[in-house]
Amino acid sequence: METNKVYEEIISKMDLCAPAPEEEPYRQYYFIGRARKALAEVEEKLGRKLTFHVATFGCQMNARDSEKLRGILEEIGYEPTDTEEADLVLYNTCTVRENANTKVYGRLGGLHSWKKKNPHMMIGLCGCMMQEEHVVKTLREKYRFVNLIFGTHNIYKLAELMSRALEHPQDMIVDIQQKTDLMVEQLPVDRTYKFKSGVNIMYGCNNFCSYCIVPYVRGREKSREPIDILREIEQLVEDGVIEVMLLGQNVNSYGKTLENKVSFAELLESVAGIEGLRRVRFMTSHPKDLSDDLIAVMAKYPDRICPHLHLPLQSGSSRLLKSMNRRYTKESYLELVDKIRAAMPEISLTTDIIVGYPGETEEDFLETMDVVEKVRYDSAFTFIYSKRSGTPAAEMDDQVPEDVVKDRFNRLLLLVQKIGREQTGRFEGQVKEVLVEHVNEQDPGLVTGRMDNNSVVHFPGDASLIGQIVKVKLDKCHGFYYLGTQA
Ligand code: SAH
Ligand code: SF4
Ligand code: F3S
Repeated sequence: METNKVYEEIISKMDLCAPAPEEEPYRQYYFIGRARKALAEVEEKLGRKLTFHVATFGCQMNARDSEKLRGILEEIGYEPTDTEEADLVLYNTCTVRENANTKVYGRLGGLHSWKKKNPHMMIGLCGCMMQEEHVVKTLREKYRFVNLIFGTHNIYKLAELMSRALEHPQDMIVDIQQKTDLMVEQLPVDRTYKFKSGVNIMYGCNNFCSYCIVPYVRGREKSREPIDILREIEQLVEDGVIEVMLLGQNVNSYGKTLENKVSFAELLESVAGIEGLRRVRFMTSHPKDLSDDLIAVMAKYPDRICPHLHLPLQSGSSRLLKSMNRRYTKESYLELVDKIRAAMPEISLTTDIIVGYPGETEEDFLETMDVVEKVRYDSAFTFIYSKRSGTPAAEMDDQVPEDVVKDRFNRLLLLVQKIGREQTGRFEGQVKEVLVEHVNEQDPGLVTGRMDNNSVVHFPGDASLIGQIVKVKLDKCHGFYYLGTQA
């Protein structure tokens, strides 16, 4: 638990029979108290503790949200379990591509069978998919066994919603907000890793790339105050964290919505100065907003700020980039890469690419392949374009036939894998610092960690190394990871 438990004392002094306070986060402290009581009654009836499981779909934002959800559920008194055969299962959903969506419906079927055998079981759904009207409509009509539905703007309200759900287990509780009115902090968090953490620096997105649903389900861009971010990181460091990842859909536009404007470069420099913090990463950088100041700050703190930039390309065709509303061209992207590499020759670049965007011709696709060859990414996430209803691209009539898309996708994958292997392997034989994350799943004699550029390294070691930064000789690169030995 990362916040020092200030709320514990507050809850103990609250009158839980009085009406709930209006002000946040006190209102949620009150409901933690209420939900605890309701849960204790169920526990008494069943004669055992109750368990919960949160399954996370989607990106780093959702992963961080899930840590908050888990923190609140543990505070209420649920015990975490790794399986979905739990007393409460919460799906934190993603809808960026259709297959993320389909997966959730599929898995709900399995949960339903489990619930039929365990009638007291509760099922909750939250996250990006829930912000789509047609999803909630389908759930209301065909998935009546779901107990709780909420969206991306009110995850801080989980204690309040759980308190209602526990007191009214037969109801389907639906609470979706259209925008983020409040950024409620100082709530419990259960971090996945003791030694590293994501930190939200902003929420939402204003870019409206024409294929993308995120701005519709996450709302308008909103930055947190630098003082709040720095205080949160200082607290994390006190609690044993040595690496943070600053999170936002477009970190390069951080600060634009603040009254006292602060740039991302300025924020990053302040974070890099926090004593005790060893590594700072960030995600995601939109190429259109990447400033010279940011490059200068990264180059100034090579030991603190990780030499890695995730710089989504999406397409190498300037014509498609225009239609995608990305606001850069193939040429300006390549110039930016040159500028970054001139300042930091060893930096690792990674990217996201979409294949089969409406109207994509063979020539457009070859432009994408050309950028991949020129930039030489360490790794690239490649996606087949997925039509998202409500986005401008979904209305475009020149959708690319499936077989053409599949063929291009395979050609792209071969190229990014070939270059990725060569790029990843460029440090073979050198000694690098590795932050150890866990014992290797396949071979318990090995531990697994990451270099500052995010490359994965396995080497002989045991659980005592977890959370430490260790010097490792990179003996051999095996495609996308290294096998090494402690130096
Ligand atoms: N904010 C980040 C991206 C977040 S979504 C950025 O702008 O870089 C992560 C990735 O999903 C995107 O970079 C894009 O490559 C992919 N993506 C988004 N919408 C998609 C769609 N409709 N079909 C296929 N891939 C999509
Ligand atoms: Fe989507 Fe574009 Fe925003 Fe990224 S910047 S989340 S791709 S709209
Ligand atoms: Fe998915 Fe939402 Fe992230 S749609 S990619 S979980 S912001």
